[in-house]
Amino acid sequence: MASSTPSASPPAAKEGYPQLSTSRPVAASTEGVIPINYTDPPDHTRLRRALIKEFTVARVQSLQPMIAAVVDALIDGMLEAGPPLDLQSRFALAVPTSVILAMLGIAYDEHGFFHERAGLVVSTNLDSALARQAQPDIRARMREILREKEKNPEAHDDLMERLIREQIRPGNLSHEEACSLLQSLVIAGHETTASIIGLGMLLLLRNPEIDRRLRDETSTKTAEQAVEEMLRYWSTTNFVAFRVALEDVGFRGVTIRAGEGILPQVVAANHDPAVFTRLPKRMPTLRLAIPFGEVEFKRGYLTHGLHALPVTWQADCGSTGAEGTR
Ligand code: HEM
Repeated sequence: MASSTPSASPPAAKEGYPQLSTSRPVAASTEGVIPINYTDPPDHTRLRRALIKEFTVARVQSLQPMIAAVVDALIDGMLEAGPPLDLQSRFALAVPTSVILAMLGIAYDEHGFFHERAGLVVSTNLDSALARQAQPDIRARMREILREKEKNPEAHDDLMERLIREQIRPGNLSHEEACSLLQSLVIAGHETTASIIGLGMLLLLRNPEIDRRLRDETSTKTAEQAVEEMLRYWSTTNFVAFRVALEDVGFRGVTIRAGEGILPQVVAANHDPAVFTRLPKRMPTLRLAIPFGEVEFKRGYLTHGLHALPVTWQADCGSTGAEGTR
């Protein structure tokens, strides 16, 4: 999302921009093509238009059977493996990774490669050499896959093939711009969703009465509201929407001068007591396998999340198949 006001613009690689750590500018280097979320119109409009058809409500809803099958297969795998296990790696991360790779038309075998590098890109306390290689590695692999798909872009009708047919070939997007967009998708599709699934599960495991209410609820509307609320409560993408003021802007009695960096704190807005007055509330014998105090929260990342979420349950209380997905 680029800036919606003309008075602030995404920072890209602006000199002197306040950085969260010394490794960030290195991790954020982009090989000459500015990522979609750092662009302003008209580039942003053109880049966004190239993807808009892929994320319509109807298109995303059409993915539901594929996502349900992924979720079922992962639950089957966990039940087969038996307790205890790490729900963060086995489920919270595996769901978005499987979905984004399937959408792009990339084999799941590559998940380790992409996941490791996506994690480095959003980390704030890295060795610079590691940080420096993450984006170029993803871009290079994207180039190879795109070149392969360009030989026959009708083979699977996946997102990458549609991008080739509808955007690259007609000249709306350069090859490198397409690689950059794909890179953004694969990075954005990893940590964000994995974090909220893990943290959402932690919230349910800590609040059995909310969990019970959601299990008993037949309306999908309630589940949708619960997800929205979890996103607000955890505010996982607190540090992503950085901007630079293009002109002097007044905000609650403070003047932000042109050229100054703006690091909006999403978590503060999402927990503004003037707007949000309560937390809405919402799995059978699933529970934390370790004391809460031992849960490892991530420190030093752009996204707030968990390193691991060890859970356990009574082995005879799990269910297999589609009924376990709701
Ligand atoms: C819970 C999950 C997610 C959260 C909380 C989240 C949050 C955000 C936020 C806050 C931004 C704005 C960044 C800015 O303005 O600088 C953003 C942008 C973006 N996100 Fe996500 N995201 C999530 C999942 C995803 C997924 C799964 C994808 C792709 C498959 C994705 C793709 C993008 C893209 C392409 C942009 C840039 C859009 C633009 O500049 O117009 N996100 N996301």
